[in-house]
Amino acid sequence: SAAEKDGYASFMLKEIAEQPKAVADTLLGRIDGSGSLTLDEVRIPANVLREVDKVVIVACGTAFHAGLIAKYAIEHWTRIPCEVELASEFRYRDPILDQQTLVVAISQSGETMDTLMALRHAREQGAKVLAICNTNGSTIPRESDAVLYTHAGPEVAVASTKAFLTQLVACYLVALYLGQVRGTKWADEIRAVVRDLSSVSGAVDRVLRTMEPVRELARSLAAEDTVLFLGRHVGYPVALEGALKLKELAYMHAEGFAAGELKHGPIALIEDDLPVVVVVPSPRGRSVLHDKIVSNIQEIRARGARTIVIAEEGDETVVPYADHLIRIPATPTLLQPLVATVPLQVFACELATARGNEVDQPRNLAKSVTVE
Ligand code: AGP
Repeated sequence: SAAEKDGYASFMLKEIAEQPKAVADTLLGRIDGSGSLTLDEVRIPANVLREVDKVVIVACGTAFHAGLIAKYAIEHWTRIPCEVELASEFRYRDPILDQQTLVVAISQSGETMDTLMALRHAREQGAKVLAICNTNGSTIPRESDAVLYTHAGPEVAVASTKAFLTQLVACYLVALYLGQVRGTKWADEIRAVVRDLSSVSGAVDRVLRTMEPVRELARSLAAEDTVLFLGRHVGYPVALEGALKLKELAYMHAEGFAAGELKHGPIALIEDDLPVVVVVPSPRGRSVLHDKIVSNIQEIRARGARTIVIAEEGDETVVPYADHLIRIPATPTLLQPLVATVPLQVFACELATARGNEVDQPRNLAKSVTVE
């Protein structure tokens, strides 16, 4: 009913708007005044976490994209090798797991059958399983060794939005916590990131306040057949997520690519007026990657692409090559997906609406996939 949607036209719009609160709620009580993490709910003892020599993340769909981003954070902050795998592929390839493997199962609903089967397989091999889940008491956390709940509140729209942002926050918390427990050489950086995390909810709020031009752009593209998404580093899974949103909501052909792969094939797709969304990394931090992606934008534009560029406030180098420029607040490199994903959600939601689609209940899809 309209009351349940709080005056929004759809649950999806309501849930997009709830993201600053969802992010803040997921951090609440987990960072103390001195900037250290207290994740008492993760009932895997510190001595066990210190022995972990491999992290394996299993998930489906949007939760899988959160896992892809988590890999960058986990490996950088902890130096523990991390693999990310689609839950539906995992147990069919005889994965190598033992008592020193930490398996992280990410699921909004906690009922996704593929993810549940993957975690059962992992536990049979002796691995410890930590669930990141949004639904209290659901099957996946019940069958795991420990759970870190995301506090997004109920997510009703089939397309995942606020659950994704909170999954990212939970993944960062797990990565930082592993780093803290193991005393990595990144201790100073970890403290700085913990501080940055506390302000990220405000950054998400700022993005939401500047979305009118994105909605206008989405409406202008309603008759297109294809939209491509490019990203690099953590921007690559953001591109995949932007494409998934557009597929499921707008029923359009949408693909996400790693920008560095362009010349290995996808650049052949570029033709006059093809809309291409590019997620640009911060020019601070990983500046080499930033410059490479700016060259990619020039390359595709020279071949006729209509460039839709998502770039940090103050990044002026992209201006000459952007047909449309979407600004996001500056964040540390690893946290950028929290702000860069939001315009892509708004874009897909508005485009779907412009095409006359039902955004909360896209055709052929179910909110939680409880069959294999
Ligand atoms: C996202 O928009 C999707 N509808 C879908 O990919 C979803 O993320 C996936 O099915 C996993 O669901 P879960 O998080 O409940 O396990």
